[in-house]
Amino acid sequence: MVPPDVPVARAVLIAQDDVRRLCEFLYRRTGMSFDDSKRYFIDRRLAERIAATGSGSFQSYFATLRADAGHEIEHLVNAFTVNETYFYREDHQLRCMTSHLLSDLLRRKRTGDSIRIWSIPCSTGEEPYSIAMWLMENWSEVDNYNIEIVASDIDTRALKAAAEGIYGARALMRLSRDMIERYFERIDDGRVRIDPGLRDSVQFTQANLVDGPDMTRYRDFDIVFCRNVLIYFDDTSRRVAAENLYDCMRPGGYICLGHSETMSRISPLFSVCRYPEAIVYQRPEATDDGS
Ligand SMILES: C[S@@+](CC[C@H](N)C(=O)[O-])C[C@H]1O[C@@H](n2cnc3c(N)ncnc32)[C@H](O)[C@@H]1O
Repeated sequence: MVPPDVPVARAVLIAQDDVRRLCEFLYRRTGMSFDDSKRYFIDRRLAERIAATGSGSFQSYFATLRADAGHEIEHLVNAFTVNETYFYREDHQLRCMTSHLLSDLLRRKRTGDSIRIWSIPCSTGEEPYSIAMWLMENWSEVDNYNIEIVASDIDTRALKAAAEGIYGARALMRLSRDMIERYFERIDDGRVRIDPGLRDSVQFTQANLVDGPDMTRYRDFDIVFCRNVLIYFDDTSRRVAAENLYDCMRPGGYICLGHSETMSRISPLFSVCRYPEAIVYQRPEATDDGS
């Protein structure tokens, strides 16, 4: 969650049934599944939203939410997302991309063709910028292809922060001093701003992994990074997200998940590819009948 800009919430007593109604509402819109073990997390965020909307009770807040007054659905979703991320997170997958995935994809491409890479969810931008930086540092073919990096998230506040591209020490902890000098400019109190050329190489958009009609706007990706979000979903929303992503990919395209996420348990649509650096999943190549 991006730090809230809402008034400090006072303790509000919320009944168990009301918490369940709210969680059901969130689940239907985002796929994120919160159970009673997350009660502390839920209560804090809900109290923040009740305070921010000036609602006197859960009932009045829920009415505001259902009417989507003042874009409250967006604010609620933004408040409940977990945006934890940093540059060069799980970089063994980036290494796998330049050591194996791209050379395989190039068998079906000609010089000048586009290579479409999708970071979803991208949170505050560290992942898509890492992909761009990694390619520039480690892939000699980088100038021979038209590389399109799209970065999407459900959280509009995270997307705004991503487009601003301002980061502190925690986000940069895996980068060498040299890399920081090359790709960022120092601003104030230890914060840095991403190089404008790098920022413009990534296109940020809002997208919801579990919203089928929304996902039809995205097509023809060669590589998808969908990392560290399915852990917040239940089996049903994981399957929905996997099926939506499948439709967004080119046949033969690859998908990378987070280290604790396994496609084999989610959907049979993808083949497992084991490389020395990482296990990734592939949308099978088209068969003769075009399927
Ligand atoms: C922990 S971050 C992962 C960021 C990055 N992929 C990484 O691994 O570092 C999880 C992100 O998932 C996003 N998210 C949650 N539900 C989503 C949905 N239904 N569609 C798209 N993004 C979603 C959240 O907004 C949050 O930014």
